[in-house]
Amino acid sequence: MTNFQIELPTKVYFGNSCVFDALKEERELINGRIILVSGCSHASEVNAQKMHTWINEVDPSAMITDYRNPHSNPRLADVREAARLAKEANVNTVIAIGGGSVMDLAKAVAVAAVSREDIGEFFGTGKKLPENTLPIIAVPTTSGTGSELSRAAILSDPDRGVKDGIRGDCLAPQVAMVDPELTYTVPLKTSMETGFDVLAHATESFLSRKADLYSEMLSARAVSIVGEYLPKLKCFIENRNGITNCDIDPAEREAREKMSFASMLMGINLYRTGNCLPHRMQYPVGALTDTSHGAGLAALFPAWIGREFEVNEDKVKEVFSLLGYRPDHITSGREAKKTFRDFTDNKLGIGYTLKDLGVDRSAADLAQKVRGNLNSDVLSETPDILIKLYEESMGE
Ligand SMILES: [Fe+2]
Repeated sequence: MTNFQIELPTKVYFGNSCVFDALKEERELINGRIILVSGCSHASEVNAQKMHTWINEVDPSAMITDYRNPHSNPRLADVREAARLAKEANVNTVIAIGGGSVMDLAKAVAVAAVSREDIGEFFGTGKKLPENTLPIIAVPTTSGTGSELSRAAILSDPDRGVKDGIRGDCLAPQVAMVDPELTYTVPLKTSMETGFDVLAHATESFLSRKADLYSEMLSARAVSIVGEYLPKLKCFIENRNGITNCDIDPAEREAREKMSFASMLMGINLYRTGNCLPHRMQYPVGALTDTSHGAGLAALFPAWIGREFEVNEDKVKEVFSLLGYRPDHITSGREAKKTFRDFTDNKLGIGYTLKDLGVDRSAADLAQKVRGNLNSDVLSETPDILIKLYEESMGE
């Protein structure tokens, strides 16, 4: 058994329409000059406008500098530009309203706005982050990354074709405001891909060598929530015409709420257990194709789970059981891969291969670009495993 500690540095507000009341509670944090980081889509603009209204009601004297994140994989150059604006306006709080890329960018801005060193010095190097980073309020509008509770920010450097992270305790937001209503307008494809990220965090943290009794409890709950509610959510979204806030069925509200909750839980686990191979392997795919994090994970997962069956059979069977499959039907790695592909393809509609995502490099090229510590995954000891997994995920 692994010894462990339980600590949650982020204060969490969770529930429908919780943000305005939470901002009132956190008045001291928003009192002053704020950089508000959001996304570039129309829905993001609507959410950023809502945040402006709420902040102005709580503190009419608050000065807000806006930064709209232009890339689905935030770049070092984006961090530098947003930090320049933050420094110019002498901001004292960072607020992020958006998906994982927006929250990750905001976390990096909280570092870069106070650091005398360039953000590149910390990117993928493990160099200790400065202690005096700006406080962060994270308001997720998708349910997927868990970035509102995690202590990492994933960035990319397109010049080098590298996607990696900065990590440290100071990247845990001071406050997370998780309002499932903000996810109602997320379209079908993004809902499925971000929802798959939750499943990836849950499964990888469950199979991680660093898993402990506490993290396993959270992982198991998150896997079962995704198994039950993500396929339902697909049907709900498909069966209504258009996306409106007011017409959402109570059953879909419940599904959205459960997915937001599971996503948040996995933000806790990301720090505790680290990730297994699929997360490390997705980064080169995202950097090469600019496809979403969840899409890359969905393409890599069936082959990985098939291989993982060979070294971690009991726990892989437990994952299938939590997803609603009969574990006694999974008798081989090949069967595990096939069954998982059935889940991504038929139940979520995201049964991609790497070729579907536009990968045109060899498995060996991709494997060379994998960064970071792979030791959390027992499979990392298998010779040439990265090349094998990329090959097996490539598709026809
Ligand atoms: Fe992830």
